[in-house]
Amino acid sequence: MSDEAFPIKTEQRGTVAVWTIDREARMNALSRATLLAFGKLAREAAENASIRAIIVTGAGEKAFCAGADLKERQGMSENDVRVQVELYRAELGPLDRCTKPVVAAINGAAFGGGLELALICDLRVAAKHAMLGLPETTLGIIPGAGGTQRLPRIVGEARAKEMILLGRRLTADEALGWGLVNRVTAPGTNVVDDAMAWIEPIANGAPIAQAAALEAIDRAFASSLDVGLELEKVSYDKTLVSEDRREALVAFAEKRKPVFKGR
Ligand code: COA
Repeated sequence: MSDEAFPIKTEQRGTVAVWTIDREARMNALSRATLLAFGKLAREAAENASIRAIIVTGAGEKAFCAGADLKERQGMSENDVRVQVELYRAELGPLDRCTKPVVAAINGAAFGGGLELALICDLRVAAKHAMLGLPETTLGIIPGAGGTQRLPRIVGEARAKEMILLGRRLTADEALGWGLVNRVTAPGTNVVDDAMAWIEPIANGAPIAQAAALEAIDRAFASSLDVGLELEKVSYDKTLVSEDRREALVAFAEKRKPVFKGR
């Protein structure tokens, strides 16, 4: 296991930051230190213009993240657990609100808080052998890191209830069929490498437009359609004044690929 003081390994590949939960012996479960590390990294990434997208993954091939660290939780009082659940909101919030696209590369099991972490991400790529589920009700609790709110938005109410009430675990192919993941990586290919290649249009794309699109899409679920369309207009205006938008028009006329500078 990595140094528990900082349990997430970081690497930058071009414009993409790859964050790997490095707690393989505990199936990359979310300890207090792991949540704090996510908060720190996401806050720093927000200020770092060299990062245009983030890939979140787990060490090894067995687990993306097995949810709450149940061993750490064993020693906790009721109040400690309450504080810990609050910590999910406080420390995963910056990743949720991140203006750069965040992609989960699901390299294995994503259960409980592990799947909730993937649901916070904007896009999900899963290894063929990955399993996904929210088993909390089978453990006498409910998903507490946004799962009850985000899952129905992604797969619909009936399927969310099926997963949450039955504790149903989906294979990667089933998850693809339900729209829970965007893509399943072919066996024999590393899921992070596959995600890197797949998001090439993001890595070399126009960051202002991407941030504006994310903002508008996220707001679609927080308001009526009329209000949402107004909000889309506000987000669109941010791209209208950008150099990147003009560069794309010039590049089109010159029959070349645009070079986006995020200005
Ligand atoms: N928290 C802390 N440790 C965990 C963990 C968790 N959430 N999940 C697994 N581990 C530990 C196991 O205790 C075991 O440790 P040990 O070697 O000291 O006994 C080690 O990781 C390997 O787990 P194991 O269950 O033996 O591996 P497996 O390959 O048979 O199964 C999983 C992997 C992920 C399917 C299985 O560990 C699992 O279902 N974990 C619980 C997931 C869960 O219910 N999360 C929701 C919490 S709300």
